Amino acid sequence: MADLSSSELKAFIGLLYLAGQFKANKLNLKDLWISDGSGVEIFRTTMTLKRFQFIQNCLRFDDKNTRSERKATDNLAAIRSFFEKFVANCQIVYTPSEYTTIDEQLPSFRGRCSFRQYMPNKPNKYGLKIYALVDAKSFYVINLEIYPGKQPTGPYALSNKAYDVVDRLVAPISKTNRNVTFDNWFTSYPLMLHLLKEHRLTSTGTVRKNKPEIPSQMLQTRNREIPSTVFGFQKDKSLLSHVPKKNKVVLLMSTLHHDDSVVADTNGTQKPEMIIFYNQTKGGVDVVDELCTNYDVSRNTKRWPMVIFYAVLNMAGINSIIVYKSNNSSNLSRRNFLRDLGIGLVSEHLQNRKENQHLPRELRKRILDQVDEPSHSQRPPNKVPKPIRRCQICPTKKDRKTKHTCYKCNRYLCMEHAVFTCQDCAQTEDDYENSE
Ligand SMILES: *[C@@H]1O[C@H](CO)[C@@H](O)[C@H](O)[C@H]1NC(C)=O
Ligand SMILES: *[C@@H]1O[C@H](CO)[C@@H](O)[C@H](O)[C@H]1NC(C)=O
Ligand SMILES: *[C@@H]1O[C@H](CO)[C@@H](O)[C@H](O)[C@H]1NC(C)=O
Ligand SMILES: *[C@@H]1O[C@H](CO)[C@@H](O)[C@H](O)[C@H]1NC(C)=O
Ligand SMILES: *[C@@H]1O[C@H](CO)[C@@H](O)[C@H](O)[C@H]1NC(C)=O
Ligand SMILES: *[C@@H]1O[C@H](CO)[C@@H](O)[C@H](O)[C@H]1NC(C)=O
Repeated sequence: MADLSSSELKAFIGLLYLAGQFKANKLNLKDLWISDGSGVEIFRTTMTLKRFQFIQNCLRFDDKNTRSERKATDNLAAIRSFFEKFVANCQIVYTPSEYTTIDEQLPSFRGRCSFRQYMPNKPNKYGLKIYALVDAKSFYVINLEIYPGKQPTGPYALSNKAYDVVDRLVAPISKTNRNVTFDNWFTSYPLMLHLLKEHRLTSTGTVRKNKPEIPSQMLQTRNREIPSTVFGFQKDKSLLSHVPKKNKVVLLMSTLHHDDSVVADTNGTQKPEMIIFYNQTKGGVDVVDELCTNYDVSRNTKRWPMVIFYAVLNMAGINSIIVYKSNNSSNLSRRNFLRDLGIGLVSEHLQNRKENQHLPRELRKRILDQVDEPSHSQRPPNKVPKPIRRCQICPTKKDRKTKHTCYKCNRYLCMEHAVFTCQDCAQTEDDYENSE
């Protein structure tokens, strides 16, 4: 197999985006490459299926020679440098809005991995857990952290407690007075104080009923009107207990809201502003999840670093359209954006490939069609126009003249010795043979 060039790697990534954009990530790859008219031309013209699978199987994100050494202190050694570069780039190119959300994602994975998680409330149930800080308005992904399980002693042995995870995630927006929303896995009184004092960030979150700071009056529902709300205030901090229906109590804590204002929601129902705010900003990461799923690039894999790789591509697809639209007032749909992105990524490789004289003529013609150049289809494919000659298979004495040649060996042959193959089939067949 030939070495992988950067243009070919980009083409591989481009095809992943295109497959996602066709919602074909769960399709068998063969169905994309199939030449019976139901496949997708650009897959075949960009590279052979065999090559695509080869790249997919060989893709690694670190130096194999030093991996065992790094693995001794880091469960994420196989992906760390790649992942951290991506996250750093996300933070350079975009300024998030004033409202942000922290939550977790669970890209699906059922293979072997010491830190695979089971989360019964997520659609896939099994997967790798990624904490995300997301812009609650634009859904731009600002910061990410992979849950690495228990790390070996060393520089990566960091606390996985909610308090510490949030403390690290908010670093890129620290001291900016922005607002963060999260759910009850994260919320605690000490965390909210810490965010306010050390990071100058306000926060709003639902609270678990077992938190020691909650006064007992706020936990009980007996003798309370339905719906009704009890508020509690301290300097800079508010706690709310809302009873939306019988025997149900919702607790929220906030360092952003400081009064008991109640406003009408979209239905005209009166609700505490804090709850409405929470509902409006809480969904950021879920929306990102949904966007990822819509045009998912991920493919079945037994290797967990590939799961992270696909998750990164999905999020890069989301972030890049947000950056694009923030500087171009365009109403380009996400689907069309991802298609353009995919085609953009394969184009350099297609350009190189069209120069490749070893490829079958028919395939090169198709490539030319795709790189938007005249395909010279009228021009005879070989340099010299072929004269009419005698069929090289018929006995000489028959002297049967023909202008046809075998497209592989170029021998002259009459129709009697020709086999008909449609152009699509001829191309696929050759495509395989030319796959190095
Ligand atoms: C956070 O939200 C509050 C209330 O909506 C707003 O006044 C404040 O400006 C926001 N923070 C930033 C940095 O915009
Ligand atoms: C609004 O009312 C509809 C129908 O009563 C209900 O299904 C929906 O959940 C309500 N929305 C909110 C935000 O309360
Ligand atoms: C918050 O929104 C969810 C759905 O978006 C809805 O089911 C729930 O009733 C809302 N809660 C409140 C208190 O408005
Ligand atoms: C805006 O659109 C132009 C033309 O499509 C593109 O070259 C440019 O990169 C876009 N700007 C951003 C920030 O994406
Ligand atoms: C986007 O627009 C802003 C303001 O017009 C400008 O400062 C910035 O350089 C632009 N970024 C890109 C990538 O075009
Ligand atoms: C997108 O913009 C074009 C022209 O700028 C307009 O004709 C079209 O209706 C817009 N589409 C949407 C969905 O807004």
